[in-house]
Amino acid sequence: MRYVPVNCLREGQKLGKTLYGKNNELLLSEGKALSKTLIGSIKRLGYCGVYIEDDISRDIEIVNVISDKLRNETIKGIKRLYLQTSSGKPTVESKQELHDNIEKIVDELLENKDVMVNMIDLKNFDNYTYAHSVNVAVLSIIIGIALDLNRNTLIKLGLGAILHDIGKIFINKGILNKPGKLTEVEFSKIKKHSMLGYKYIRDRFKLPTISHGAILEHHERYDGTGYPANKCGEDITFFGRIVAIADVYDALTSRRPYRKAMNPADSLEYIMGNSGTAFDSDLVEVFVHKIAPYPVGTTVVLSNGYIGIVLENYELLSLRPKIRVFKIGNKEVTPFEINLKDDYSYLNVTILDVINEIAS
Ligand SMILES: [Fe+2]
Repeated sequence: MRYVPVNCLREGQKLGKTLYGKNNELLLSEGKALSKTLIGSIKRLGYCGVYIEDDISRDIEIVNVISDKLRNETIKGIKRLYLQTSSGKPTVESKQELHDNIEKIVDELLENKDVMVNMIDLKNFDNYTYAHSVNVAVLSIIIGIALDLNRNTLIKLGLGAILHDIGKIFINKGILNKPGKLTEVEFSKIKKHSMLGYKYIRDRFKLPTISHGAILEHHERYDGTGYPANKCGEDITFFGRIVAIADVYDALTSRRPYRKAMNPADSLEYIMGNSGTAFDSDLVEVFVHKIAPYPVGTTVVLSNGYIGIVLENYELLSLRPKIRVFKIGNKEVTPFEINLKDDYSYLNVTILDVINEIAS
C-alpha cells in the first residue's frame, strides 16, 4: 500500500488501512472502494491522507511499531479517562486500564526495538487529543528504549507522557479549539495547563513521582525559553526533556483546524534545527535515528527526476531509503527498484521532496 494525501484521492481507489470515526468506531474497512461521498467524509473528518492499495504498491507492507489494535484500545481508554476526569473523577478500572495499556505498549516496543517509526499517523480532528497523547507516549518510550532505560522506568515514562496534557481538561474549550491566532491573555491561560495537570495528577492519581516531570515540564525548553518555570538545561527533568521532543514532533505532523500537517522530513528538520536551543541535543540525536523522514509508502521525487515509492528505511542512513521508481520526469516507466543506501550509481542522487500524488 502507499500513502495518498486526502486532496489527491480519486474515486475507485481501494483503502489499504481501516479508518476510524469520531469515537474511534470503525468507519471504513480496508479494501473498501472510495466513492466521491466517502472521499468527502474523509476530508470532513480531518484526515490528512489515507493508505491506498493498488497494483504498484500491493506488496508494500506498512509495519507499525505498535499494533493498530493496541493503539486504538489505548486511544479509547485515554478518552474515557479524560471524559471521566472532566465530569468527576476517573474510575479505578480506567486508571488500571491505562496502566495495563502502557505496559503492553512498552512490551510491543521492546519487541520491535529495531523497527524505525515508519508510519504516517492517520488522525482525525475529533480524536486528535487522544491519538496525540498515545503517540507522545509511544515516541517517548522509543527514545527511552534507545537510551536503554529499563522496563519499569519505561512504564513510568509512558504513563507521564500519555497524561502530559491532562491539564487541558481544566482550560476553556473555546480557547483550546480557537481556529485563529490566540491573544496574549488566551495564550497565558493555555500555558497554565502543565501546572494544572501536574497538580491534579500529584493530588489525585498516585503516579510515580518521576512521571510528574513529563506533565509539569513538557513545555520547558532547554535554553530556558519555556514554561511554566523557565527552567534550563538539566534542571528540566529527564522525562520533561524527552516528552518535549515527542510532543512537538507529533503536533507538527498533525493536521489542525488552523494549519496543515508537516511531513515527517520537515518536522524532523524542525526538531534538529532547535537542537541545543529548545531541545536537549543528546536526546534529539537519539530521536532522529529512530524516525523515518520518508516513511515506507510515501512517494518521493529524486534529484535525477525519478519518482518512486519508499520501500524500506535504514536507521543509520535514513535519508537513503530503498525506492520503487515508476516514473521518470513525466514519463511512466516499468517499475524498478533502487537502493540509495548502497547502489553506487546513485551516490549523487538525493531526495528532493515528498510528492503529493502520482499525476497520470
Ligand atoms: Fe502541552
